[in-house]
Amino acid sequence: MSDIVPHRPVIDSAYISVANLLSWYEKTQRDLPWRQPDVSAWQILVSEFMLQQTPVARVLPIWTEWVQRWPTPSATAAATAADVLRAWGKLGYPRRAKRLHECAVVIARDHGDVVPDDVEVLLTLPGVGSYTARAVACFAYRRRVPVVDTNVRRVVARAVHGRADAGTPSAVRDHADVSALLPDDERAPRFSVALMELGALVCTARAPKCGVCPLDACRWRRAGFPAATGPARRVQSYAGTDRQVRGRLMDVLRDNDSPVTRAQLDLAWQSDPAQRDRALYSLLDDGLVTQTADGRFALAGEE
Ligand code: ADE
Repeated sequence: MSDIVPHRPVIDSAYISVANLLSWYEKTQRDLPWRQPDVSAWQILVSEFMLQQTPVARVLPIWTEWVQRWPTPSATAAATAADVLRAWGKLGYPRRAKRLHECAVVIARDHGDVVPDDVEVLLTLPGVGSYTARAVACFAYRRRVPVVDTNVRRVVARAVHGRADAGTPSAVRDHADVSALLPDDERAPRFSVALMELGALVCTARAPKCGVCPLDACRWRRAGFPAATGPARRVQSYAGTDRQVRGRLMDVLRDNDSPVTRAQLDLAWQSDPAQRDRALYSLLDDGLVTQTADGRFALAGEE
């Protein structure tokens, strides 16, 4: 599906001043290593996999070590799944690490070790969804494509639509909105990263810092900051969830170079054996953990 076909009247780009946003970004941007000019497309792709569900501060040390150790898709592909899961550490959502490894294998084998630059081709890679495909095309290859994450959706909802919060995500609508805002020239990639940065640093979900915002035509501000009308945002809890239990089991497996017994895993979560079993089965099911012939457990791909 094309990114540029608007499904409703083109939105008014005057609500977001490109010049104001870019000069704010020049002054305020965080010095993040994956934004440096000498970073490869593969290394940018790795950063986007990591950043999708994990905050920048936790990604920084893991990304830095990762790209030193495995600078290319083929270097990553040559590692074992267990090495990759260990290096992923406590970033969480370890299915991403497995997908990243699979993605490296496909790029090394089918794309001459070069990350594709086309959104449609990127979308065929393991673990690469709508956001990651466009982020890589834009940030690594300077393509003029809309890059829409949660932060960008919120900035657009406020500045352009005058609403406190973005509604339900819709790829078609969200891409059309951001396409209409993108400058028509080589500033497009910088505009995209600046919009993300504004959402991360100023136009935040709670307590936005409107006093320092460069978007003085913001419709939400001009309308007097009307409150959100949709249902209250769900606060994601972690303590006690299956995800936490999976994390505890993965901690034990990462910390042991040889397979562990069921009893060792049981120690990691004693309060609810049924939940622990469910978590272990889901890790086996996701291919993150394997069982040895003698019934012990190890990270997938452990030698
Ligand atoms: N720069 C480029 N992509 C980013 C992301 N997903 N989060 C933070 N900074 C970024």
